[in-house]
Amino acid sequence: MPTTQSTSKTTTSKITTPRKSKTNAIKLLMDDHAKVKKLFKEFEKQCKNDDDAGKEEIAKQICEELTVHTQLEEEIFYPAAREAIDDDDLMNEALVEHGSAKELIAQIQSMKSYDPMFVAVVRVLGEYVNHHVEEEQNELFPKVEKTDIDLEELGAEIASRKDELTKK
Ligand SMILES: [Fe+2]
Ligand SMILES: [Fe+2]
Repeated sequence: MPTTQSTSKTTTSKITTPRKSKTNAIKLLMDDHAKVKKLFKEFEKQCKNDDDAGKEEIAKQICEELTVHTQLEEEIFYPAAREAIDDDDLMNEALVEHGSAKELIAQIQSMKSYDPMFVAVVRVLGEYVNHHVEEEQNELFPKVEKTDIDLEELGAEIASRKDELTKK
């Protein structure tokens, strides 16, 4: 039996879809990451100003952004990535991290900003998200980019699903 030639997914394939394209899936996800990072900074500003209404409004936006983002990843990006990179450990870890974030989001959504634990829960969510985003951007995305996955097609799918999810 002739052995099938190994098709290395890690060393020989080249990046065909630059992140710069507007509809590149990774670019879209990174734009979300940047937006949420900004919101967490804004939250700290509201804390400094001791603005309860401001804190609650920004926390609400953070929760909404993250809910849509994790859903887009779980429905579209992660399944495609899981198939392409063949690293179940990494993908499972990402899902567990989403699970922890969702629990914190649910807590925040059930709290009032004057609750003594409100700020702490939002900050811990920020730390979790920060860690998770770093893993995605430093490990997962570069791995995905080395495969021949069509990031433009995937990006178009993500963009249209996001439209659906954010339609008011
Ligand atoms: Fe994620
Ligand atoms: Fe993400």
